[in-house]
Amino acid sequence: MYADCRGLTLTTASEGAAIHLDQAVTDYLDYRTTAFGHVRSALEQDPGFVLALCFRGYFLLMLENKAILPKVRQTLDEIRPNLAAATSRERRHVRALEAWAAGDIMLACAHWEEILAECPLDLMALKLHHTMSFYAGRSQVMRAVIASVLGEWDDKAPGYGCVQGMYAYALEECGAYADAERWGRQAVEKNPGDLWAIHSVAHVLEMEGRSAEGVKWLSYTPQQWADKNPFKAHVWWHAALFFLAQGDYDRALDLYDHALCSVNSETYVDVSNQAALLKRLQLAGVDIGDRWKALAEHSQLRIHDHMLPFRDAHFCLALAAHGDFDVARSHIKSMADFAAQSEGWRAEATNNVLIPLCEGIVAYEQGHYDKACNLLWTVRNEIVSIGGSHAQRDLFAQIICDAAMRACNLPAARSLLSERVLSRSTKKANWRSYAEVLTALGETERADAARQRAEAAPEVGA
Ligand SMILES: [Fe+2]
Repeated sequence: MYADCRGLTLTTASEGAAIHLDQAVTDYLDYRTTAFGHVRSALEQDPGFVLALCFRGYFLLMLENKAILPKVRQTLDEIRPNLAAATSRERRHVRALEAWAAGDIMLACAHWEEILAECPLDLMALKLHHTMSFYAGRSQVMRAVIASVLGEWDDKAPGYGCVQGMYAYALEECGAYADAERWGRQAVEKNPGDLWAIHSVAHVLEMEGRSAEGVKWLSYTPQQWADKNPFKAHVWWHAALFFLAQGDYDRALDLYDHALCSVNSETYVDVSNQAALLKRLQLAGVDIGDRWKALAEHSQLRIHDHMLPFRDAHFCLALAAHGDFDVARSHIKSMADFAAQSEGWRAEATNNVLIPLCEGIVAYEQGHYDKACNLLWTVRNEIVSIGGSHAQRDLFAQIICDAAMRACNLPAARSLLSERVLSRSTKKANWRSYAEVLTALGETERADAARQRAEAAPEVGA
């Protein structure tokens, strides 16, 4: 028996294996590419090390690719003969892995919460709970669970900065921007390479319309993040949003071409960043050339995955935006089959929100704006249930606004823009669209006031 750097027992007879597993957690929380290698090294030294096998399963599932499920099941088979010697914490991790592998993310989160109640310093359980709660759109749960362990953490516990960075993100998603920024900046001060904490502050700057500060906050070079894992593409996506808000489309496109593209990666492909940026550039009127092609080709390979509703939404967006409507429809049909054959959060979110959302996106890309507006209107306030952040889901709000404007559905457009100029008051484009709609409705005085707000607004985009 050994212990990790926070004093939690590791059931292994190999000191080397224990050291490697500890390092795997440290590197994973630091978004380093070396994390999985340390799990492998731990298993070379102790092939029956339950927690190392379990973390191998976790790392495989993080790839969010249905093709890896057989490997995860094989890992669970390797765990079972060794389970009797494991601690209750380790056995709970295995139950969480089983639940996650079976697609029951809520049950996996419940197991991680049980672990954290007993062992608040279990950083892996906390990070996984944080990540999967984010993907399930459960911001309040994310915040509550981190708050529930914070009392046991302080500067003496290795990895405290990571917890601060996570708490910052949870606060941001709950709208507590000032507190989020304070916690996030403290975390980055502690560990300037903590991409998640850097990203938490970027979210605050995004939500508060502080893109000029955002450009400065993310003024890193690719070399500074050379050893970071593909999550860095998402942080570059935030940098691209800041450029977009500043009207600097060339730099946003340059980031797309040089920092965001993961389609050629063998291990991890995140179409979400790329599709979301391309669509935002298009909505801003930028010519993006044939960039949808590669995303649609990759998305076509993933239409039966259904690992996360949030990913499905972006696969479908890429297919529809490229004009592959038949494939997009097959994708939606596959979602419906998946929802009918499954139960729990993924099935419900897919059936109730994801499918109408995707049907709306397909109608929008086909130019059927009336139909798109009607479909998207029904789910506009429910999209949180497919997960992702406020900043990410804002793309769907932009699409429905555009659909309403193009469909000349003035009541819907006025309603959507009235809300938008409050939540995104720093963007000229929102005020201009609002003024346009008010003019069409004959509300000249308020339209003039909106135009004045557009003049004074500090940011360009929507
Ligand atoms: Fe983000």
